[in-house]
Amino acid sequence: MRAARVTTLDGPAAVTVEQVDTPVRGDGEVLVEVHAAGVTFPEVLQSRGRYQHRPELPFTPGSEVAGTVLEAPDGSPLRPGDRVAAFMATGGYAEQAAAPAELVFPLPDRVSFVAGAALPMNYLTVELALGLRGRLQAGETLLVHGAGGGIGTAGIQLAKALGARVVAVVSSEAKGEAARQAGADEVVPVDGFRAAVQALGGADVVLDPVGGDRFTDSLRSLRPGGRLLVVGFTAGEIPTVKVNRLLLNNIDVVGVGWGAYALARPGYAASQWDRLRPHLESGALDPVIGSTRPLAEAAQALASIEDRTAVGKVVLTVR
Ligand SMILES: NC(=O)c1ccc[n+]([C@@H]2O[C@H](COP(=O)([O-])OP(=O)(O)OC[C@H]3O[C@@H](n4cnc5c(N)ncnc54)[C@H](OP(=O)(O)O)[C@@H]3O)[C@@H](O)[C@H]2O)c1
Repeated sequence: MRAARVTTLDGPAAVTVEQVDTPVRGDGEVLVEVHAAGVTFPEVLQSRGRYQHRPELPFTPGSEVAGTVLEAPDGSPLRPGDRVAAFMATGGYAEQAAAPAELVFPLPDRVSFVAGAALPMNYLTVELALGLRGRLQAGETLLVHGAGGGIGTAGIQLAKALGARVVAVVSSEAKGEAARQAGADEVVPVDGFRAAVQALGGADVVLDPVGGDRFTDSLRSLRPGGRLLVVGFTAGEIPTVKVNRLLLNNIDVVGVGWGAYALARPGYAASQWDRLRPHLESGALDPVIGSTRPLAEAAQALASIEDRTAVGKVVLTVR
């Protein structure tokens, strides 16, 4: 089968597409015929050996796919031919991929394979972030950084489905358009976002996949009792916090690590999918797909995330 391969840690440009052996389904795994694969920021980091999880070289990147079941373990409710979305550590940018059965989710009929491939990583992460970790309530205001990206557009959609108001922070007009398409009520530029958010009444919760030097202004954008959700550091720099800012207004800074939480609790990811499912079936959650590229262009897809030109979610079409 064809698969993308990371053979050296020289970044997206060094990613190739080659013929490799089809994966062998392990105990408790589901083998999926991949129709589409989501491209995520951690895979950019992995292509340079900069992610916490460092697979042995060479490896096939890719942590989320949508497709149909080829084989499922005994006792699984899944049958060959079922439409699914799936999460796996690696191996998604390929014609077939194996995933742990508890991380294979039924895909509602109205959700396309391309949209399905955009779901596992970002939507399960924002479900944990806005739900258990962030306690976002209907009527509250959510500020979203990197709002035109994968996590950003997913966070906007889920917040709107939960009845919150969303202020999106973006660095370009195109990303602002993606944030609006996801349902953002207000879109403000990165430069001067603090003043703009204050003029809009401040935020109850901040969803931050970016980090870097905007962190302190994010804290200052919060209303009393606000929560800042630490999701990632696409800006590169890991911020530090002066804790007096937390005391003054009863602010929480909350870590959100989906893998650390969900993968340690069998059944948790499935319960998250059950909570997302009505919103998928109603169309309230409908990923903003910025670009689709064939598998052969895996390198270019990863490069678009690294050079910050990607808008919305980037997906590889495999068949
Ligand atoms: N904690 C978890 O469990 C978890 C789960 C999934 C993903 N993540 C993390 O969440 C982060 C976002 O992932 P994503 O899929 O949303 O990525 P993405 O689609 O590439 O979006 C990230 C956004 O970050 C902003 N950004 C600011 N500075 C940047 C820079 N120097 N380079 C690239 N982007 C920059 C960009 O928005 P602007 O240009 O508008 O600023 C971009 O749209 C990643 O760090 C990822 O590892 C964490």
